[in-house]
Order: sequence, then C-alpha cells, then structure tokens
Amino acid sequence: MRLPGLIDPHVHVREPGQTHKEDWDSATQAALAGGVTTVLAMPNTKPPIFDAATLDLALAAARTKARCDYAQYLGAGPANAAEVARLAPRAAGLKMYLDSTFGELRLDEMTLWLEHFRLWRGRGPIVVHAESRSMAAALACAQMFDRPVHIAHVSLREEILLIKEAKARGVKVTCEVTPHHLFLTKEDIPPSPPSPLPQGEGGGGEGRFEVRPRLASPADVQALWQNLDVIDCFATDHAPHTLAEKDGETPPPGFPGLETMLPLFLTAIGEGRLTINHLIQKSVVNPRKIFHLPEQPETWVEVDENARWEIRAADLRSRCGWTPFEGRQVRGRVTRVVLRGREAFREGLVLAGPGYGRNVRE
Ligand code: NCD
Ligand code: ZN
Repeated sequence: MRLPGLIDPHVHVREPGQTHKEDWDSATQAALAGGVTTVLAMPNTKPPIFDAATLDLALAAARTKARCDYAQYLGAGPANAAEVARLAPRAAGLKMYLDSTFGELRLDEMTLWLEHFRLWRGRGPIVVHAESRSMAAALACAQMFDRPVHIAHVSLREEILLIKEAKARGVKVTCEVTPHHLFLTKEDIPPSPPSPLPQGEGGGGEGRFEVRPRLASPADVQALWQNLDVIDCFATDHAPHTLAEKDGETPPPGFPGLETMLPLFLTAIGEGRLTINHLIQKSVVNPRKIFHLPEQPETWVEVDENARWEIRAADLRSRCGWTPFEGRQVRGRVTRVVLRGREAFREGLVLAGPGYGRNVRE
C-alpha cells in the first residue's frame, strides 16, 4: 500500500545542545524509517530557539544534517514577542508554554501571553503546551484575538470535549494527539523496583514512563478515541532522553515516537479502530493546511500492511535507545520511502544523505 509522506508537527530534535539524546541526523533517520517526510522541530533546545541568532544556529545544523524535510519552531519568551513576530515567516510556528516550564521560555505572567497573541502573524499558528485549565485560557486568548491556536498533545477527556465546544462556537482552534496518549494509559506504567538499581538497569519502572502530559486514565483515552473527529492531527511529541537518564535519579519526561507511530496506527486500522482516511487526514492533509506547508512532489511511503513484527528498541534509529512500546506486536511496516523523487529509505536502510532534507520555510 502507498501512503503520502507523513508530517509530524511535534518533534524534539535536541540539536543544538543535547546531541547525546538525538540530533538532526538521527532524528530525521528515525522520521524516514517511520514514514515521516516532514518534521516540525520544537524550540526547547539548549539554547532555546527564540531569536535570530538561535534560529540561525538550529537551521545551520539542520541544513547540513537533516535527511527529511523540516521547519523549526520559535519559542515564546518573556521579552521576545516583537522579535519572534519579525522572524515568523522563517518559522514552523510559535511554541508557547502556558504551564510552568524551564529557563528562558518561561511565561510567568498572563500579560506576556497577550503580547504574543497580539503580534504573531506566522504561516504556522501559535502552538500551546497548556494542560487542563491552562488550555481553557489558551482558548480564551484565541477567541479574544480571533487568532488560530493549536493545542499540543491533548490527553484528557475534559480537554477534547472543551475543544469540541470551542470549535462548534467558531474559535480558531485545532489540536493534536500523540500515539502514546492513544495507545497507553497510566495503568500501563509498571511499578518502580523497591531499591534503586544502577543507571540503565532500572528495568523500566515509573521513571521511564514520565511524560508530559502524563499518561491518562482509560476513560480519558476512550474519550479521545470516541472524539477522533475533533482531533485535527496526529503528532508524536518525539521527546528522546537516554535510557540512563530515564532510569536515573531524576527521570526527564518524554518518549521517542517517530519510528513507532505509523506501525501503531496501521495496527489500529487492521483492527478496525481507525481508517486509512483518518490517518491521511490527521497525518498529512490537516497538518499541511494548519501549518501552511508546501506539497512534496514525487513523495510517498510504501507499507506492507500485513507484516507482523515486534517493536524492539534495538531495531530503532533514535539515539535514545529505548521505547515505551517495547515488546508490542504490531502489524504494518514501512518498506520504502521516496522523498522528492529520490529513494530515501528501503528495507531498513536510510538512503537519503545528511543535508538532503529541505527547510520548507525557505
Ligand atoms: C518534552 C521534552 O522532553 O522536551 N517532554 C515531554 O514529556 N513532552 C518537554 C515538555 O514538553 O514538557
Ligand atoms: Zn513536546
């Protein structure tokens, strides 16, 4: 079966600054192996991408290393609304963290949100990390300014139902859901072992399953499946951290996801829980529309929808070395990817070289 190249609007590439977790090369190899031909890269790198100098830094690395197409987000900080608005044409979108977060992208005061909503006129929307009641605040901003807002990684029943209401009332809101919030619940989290084990030998306890938003209840997951029509996009929130970090003293939140998304969705399609049309709408058509991305000519993904295999971290290309889906049986495998007329992936081998990927905002 042939699919269009998938677009993943939420990827943490980790470069600049944390290339031991991932970089533009490994992230885009993982993307191609997962049937993803465009990634939109999040700005919470080290340093964060929040002005002209840091945008240049990220794009310079991408230019020489990316193997699939890409665009880079800017991060909304406390004092950069005018600057990011000026840089908007070069960016995937503006990422705004409404809940408390790290370092320079921290927006402690609500007036700072308003400044960004007032000024941002990008080709991509304002994408918010805003959970539960903060998400309602983001919807209020979208309504007040009549500007598009995209809600990242919806995970709760109350969130998807509020978005449904807002859409029905004409608020310019779109949203995405991750595979892990559709295929895992908090009941899948194994208890941590009683005594601390050496780093990397934690055995996959609670620390490994740290992710933001947290894995939710089975009722929340069921509500997402029941409201598939409200979900505009699938996005991995590919957020790799190494196994040593995940099993260490202070496990950072985040799951890798680029290589497992399509097999998980193909499996759900095989089980009749999802249709091919859902997949194409949410992974190609809608992200292209919401982020105003160009068509990729002569680009497609070939899948063997009947291939049965087991997800194993050892077979994945992400540098992080683990997956929350370890051991899961799936049906459907990416066999070949053609990107802009060139064979980019075939039978387990990434063939597109570093630098073949194009910045879709240039
Ligand atoms: C993100 C990461 O690792 O960059 N982690 C995550 O669990 N989604 C950061 C974040 O968005 O909180
Ligand atoms: Zn994220």
